[in-house]
Amino acid sequence: MTDTLSVAAPRRVLLGISGGIAAYKVCSVISSLAKEGVAVRVALTQQGQAFIPPLAVATLSRHPAYTDETFWQATQGRPLHIDLGEWAELLVIAPLSANTLGKLTHGLADNLLTNTVLASTCPVLLAPAMNTDMWQQQAVQRNWHQLLQDARYHSLEPGSGVLACDRVGTGRMAEPDDILTHVHSLLHTGGKRDLVGKHLLISTGSTREYLDPVRFIGNPASGKMGIALAQAAIHRGATVTLVHGPLDDSLKARLGGIQAVGVTTAEEMHRAMLTHLPQADWVVMAAAVADVKPATQVVTKLAKADLPEALPLAQVPDIVADLAQKRSPHQRLIGFAAQTGDIIAPALDKLQRKGLDAIVANPIDVAGSGFGGDRNQAVLLTRLGDKLAIPPCTKLSLAHQLWNALLKAKF
Ligand code: C5P
Repeated sequence: MTDTLSVAAPRRVLLGISGGIAAYKVCSVISSLAKEGVAVRVALTQQGQAFIPPLAVATLSRHPAYTDETFWQATQGRPLHIDLGEWAELLVIAPLSANTLGKLTHGLADNLLTNTVLASTCPVLLAPAMNTDMWQQQAVQRNWHQLLQDARYHSLEPGSGVLACDRVGTGRMAEPDDILTHVHSLLHTGGKRDLVGKHLLISTGSTREYLDPVRFIGNPASGKMGIALAQAAIHRGATVTLVHGPLDDSLKARLGGIQAVGVTTAEEMHRAMLTHLPQADWVVMAAAVADVKPATQVVTKLAKADLPEALPLAQVPDIVADLAQKRSPHQRLIGFAAQTGDIIAPALDKLQRKGLDAIVANPIDVAGSGFGGDRNQAVLLTRLGDKLAIPPCTKLSLAHQLWNALLKAKF
């Protein structure tokens, strides 16, 4: 369960399916949202129905699907497009075809889906999918850019890959995970773009300090918290640079739209953070940096017999403390403190000692929080003494709650 659902009334998402083979991927989005307890209604265009039967989406959403046939039938009471438009908190059109894109751009409404868009005011998330030549047509590109000028529309740009038409190119619909993350963000923010104009520099993951090519000092930080911070910020309109330690492939797939800089050691992270510091308005050091490294490193693998009994250690740079020294007065610096036991006192000590504006203390010895998982909890402490406890929730929701608090904080 995501915390988008912890409120009493279920959240309400209307999913529009227009014509495209990517419609099959939307089934997993419907299924995930329904399992989370989100109320999902699905409206299919006639071309959408050619790719996915209404019965499939009705079964997954636990509700009859809406089609143009239902639209044109005599209704009892209010017209269906008005009811649906008022009901939806969020409209998602996935896949968005060139045809439906064209209609939306020009305010045309000749079927249930396009009429419902015009009869609603909620945010609309668009995930186009089409053949590369179709996507690259000047007319389609013109429509796409013109439509996105309207703040109501949020985009999930198509990616590139092998398309069902056997072309390799741009036009592949965003992956179900990306759609779900964006849906959760929009349900959280209601479509607010309150980080437009802000450049955020975020570090995440762990660093590895190698003794030889295979052995290193590290920690289990996965990078999920910083990626959630980056995604939430981008969904709110920020520009993000993410400096990350080694990530597994499923997390690398979440880096779309983020300027990502991969590093391995603390020294590389230090250099990357200093390089990108001048452009940043806010810097968030969410990475779990190895505090020490082996005093010597060798380039070939040590034989077991050659491993030292005691490993002499050397310090790595305290990156966040150095950023605090080098930053300009308008730049804000936020640290993380992953703690066991009492999380507050050590975090307050780090806040002061490292010269930060705020610190996020989070427990790593509580089940369902901390390293590796999808959920977390934290206490945000600011330099001016503000304190905000954020109860257990998804890392994406925690990220949004942190951005809400930091936007309000008077540093
Ligand atoms: O490891 P420590 O508890 O000191 O981490 C607190 C904060 O300092 C975190 O924001 C972490 O990313 C940062 N840090 C750092 N460089 C280090 C160690 C920690 O920037 N060498």
